[in-house]
Amino acid sequence: MTKNILITGASGMVGEALIKSLSKQGHNLNILTTQKNRVQSNVKCNMYYWNPINNEINLESLDGIEYIINLAGSPITQRWTKFTKKKIINSRVKSLSFLLNTIRENKLTSVKYLISASAIGIYPSSTTKYYDENYNQFDNSSFLSSVVKKWESAAMEYSSEGIKVSILRIGIVLGLNGGALPKIIKPIKMYSGAVLSNGNQWQSWIHIEDLVSIFLHLLETKVIGIFNAVAPNPVRQSELTFEIAKLIKRPILLPNIHKSLLKLVFGEMCSIVVDSQRVCSKKIKNTGFNFKFQYIHPALKSLIQSN
Ligand SMILES: NC(=O)c1ccc[n+]([C@@H]2O[C@H](COP(=O)([O-])OP(=O)(O)OC[C@H]3O[C@@H](n4cnc5c(N)ncnc54)[C@H](OP(=O)(O)O)[C@@H]3O)[C@@H](O)[C@H]2O)c1
Repeated sequence: MTKNILITGASGMVGEALIKSLSKQGHNLNILTTQKNRVQSNVKCNMYYWNPINNEINLESLDGIEYIINLAGSPITQRWTKFTKKKIINSRVKSLSFLLNTIRENKLTSVKYLISASAIGIYPSSTTKYYDENYNQFDNSSFLSSVVKKWESAAMEYSSEGIKVSILRIGIVLGLNGGALPKIIKPIKMYSGAVLSNGNQWQSWIHIEDLVSIFLHLLETKVIGIFNAVAPNPVRQSELTFEIAKLIKRPILLPNIHKSLLKLVFGEMCSIVVDSQRVCSKKIKNTGFNFKFQYIHPALKSLIQSN
């Protein structure tokens, strides 16, 4: 059945892949973008400008909308200064709360279901723990964890308006049109790839195709709750590096890059690559979702060899 769906943050890596699939299925798509110059409706979707920080939105974008998919967020891969930290938080929390206020104030009762992006960065770094969605001993000193907690609270707030809420704690998305993979491939291709830190940190990844399928699965089943969106078999950082090197036929010649050097270069943000999260995908599987890519080798092969 055709659905009326509003998507925020749709011009990013996940959004672009999702729009392709949703438009193939014939759904009516409205897009909210923060880039004025991108506002150009086409056969796939209607685009509208919004600025959640300045409370600017075109109400037409919400006309008849039943489903909201929230992907908006300023990238976390920028040096974490006081300014950028604020931007990373506001772009997630204010976007969600501004949209909810708009729904409330305008009594837009057609909205029934919100699926919001979240991240596995909510879980504390550990090489031994195996995290499922019931884990709640979050690390208050971690910037990422505190961002994600605020982000998820802002999403949960939608249930106060009778809107069903699903939250996806997304792992490292593997795709070629953005995200981590092209950044890892580039130095390896140039013979300057190296394992980061001691390489033992767990990286819970997901193939972009499976992530898109999870969004489609939620739209169909309308299950509610928090779900880890990661493949069933996370890998250590060293395994990820060597698998990529093998597939692009390059040796890893350099020694591991020490954690202190990563900290010096990237500052606090180095936690993105040195932290370890081994995350469990059982809950989403128990809703009837089947992963196409369960293991890292076929997942990487499908991307790298299609290039
Ligand atoms: N990719 C991953 O590995 C990964 C992992 C975990 C979680 N996530 C989360 O999943 C969501 C989608 O991921 P993605 O990789 O597609 O992200 P992305 O490529 O960085 O795209 C996010 C989108 O958010 C919008 N945006 C940027 N700055 C904004 C701001 N200041 N205020 C409001 N919106 C802003 C942009 O769309 P417009 O310019 O059109 O407004 C942008 O295209 C993000 O929230 C991300 O944090 C991603």
